Amino acid sequence: MKENSSVSAISPSNIAIVKYWGKHGNQLPNNPSISFTLSRCRTETHVAFQGNSTGNLSVRFLFEGKESPKFQEKIENYLAANRQYFGFLRGLDLIIESGNSFPHSSGIASSAASMSALVLCLLQIEKIVAHDDTPLDMRKASFLSRLASGSAARSVYPVMALWGKTPSIADSSDDYAVPLADMVHPVFKTYHDSILIVSNKEKSVSSRVGHSLMNGHPLAEKRYATARHNTERLLKVLKSGDVQEFIDIAETEALQLHEMMATSTPPFRLMEPNTLNIIEKVMELRHETNIPACFTLDAGPNVHLLYPDAFDIQTKQFIKDNLLQYCHENQYIDDVVQNNVK
Ligand code: PMV
Repeated sequence: MKENSSVSAISPSNIAIVKYWGKHGNQLPNNPSISFTLSRCRTETHVAFQGNSTGNLSVRFLFEGKESPKFQEKIENYLAANRQYFGFLRGLDLIIESGNSFPHSSGIASSAASMSALVLCLLQIEKIVAHDDTPLDMRKASFLSRLASGSAARSVYPVMALWGKTPSIADSSDDYAVPLADMVHPVFKTYHDSILIVSNKEKSVSSRVGHSLMNGHPLAEKRYATARHNTERLLKVLKSGDVQEFIDIAETEALQLHEMMATSTPPFRLMEPNTLNIIEKVMELRHETNIPACFTLDAGPNVHLLYPDAFDIQTKQFIKDNLLQYCHENQYIDDVVQNNVK
């Protein structure tokens, strides 16, 4: 190894259509999930590393040029908890610098993008240390990303990914995600995700707390059964290109995720009045036009508006005329499905 070396990786965020909510064991999902991989909301990470004489691993983390003790601790805890996979880091000093493509004040904190970008860097270091110039093993990248943040498992593949065991996909697994790009109808590869920023505040419930609210939730088993069913339904829809059925799955999944939070102990209401205003307008749009746009939600108030590229111009006009009034400082992020199949 050279005295000083460095690696970089860019990894995108993803938006789940069938949602992962509830986990057990070491970051194992209670139901399978399927997401679109985005292209413009992403994290770029750069890791400089050099050997030290202590034989220990040291980490320094900078987010957008500034020390970030909170994230530094998160990374250190992750590396310590999973040290059996990171033996190659022993005796190295790491300086990790990370930055997001999306604005600070968008209320989007994508652990999927940041943790998968970090793992992609660490796996490159493993190859350098071992003088191995074979391509990265994306399944391993997905596995290690999952251990950092469940949904990060899906971010390492373009277009769409499935994480969690489901009957119709033989190599699906709770341990890692698998790519779906080869079986997705062309229409879904053209999808836009216009992220309507209702609030720029940080999420009021962390994912960790959110998942734990499913333990002992009276509707939990019903929710997991519905998500398993919706996974199989969505896999069929992704093959057939049935955009109407896609809308039904996407919207009921989003509303059910929020219903779970609203009926947990303690309850959380993550939608804001403008979330509902946007949802109503999107339903009106479908009623009055032939535009097959639909919404989905993450665990927060922002609305992801999903639509095929064929309706881009009309939908963008609709956003400007009808939806931006409900967005924080008229803000939205115009993202698209990531298509550069690796
Ligand atoms: O990956 P986590 O632990 O941040 O959980 C993500 C949960 C949702 O974003 C709400 C749904 C999902 O499948 O991405």
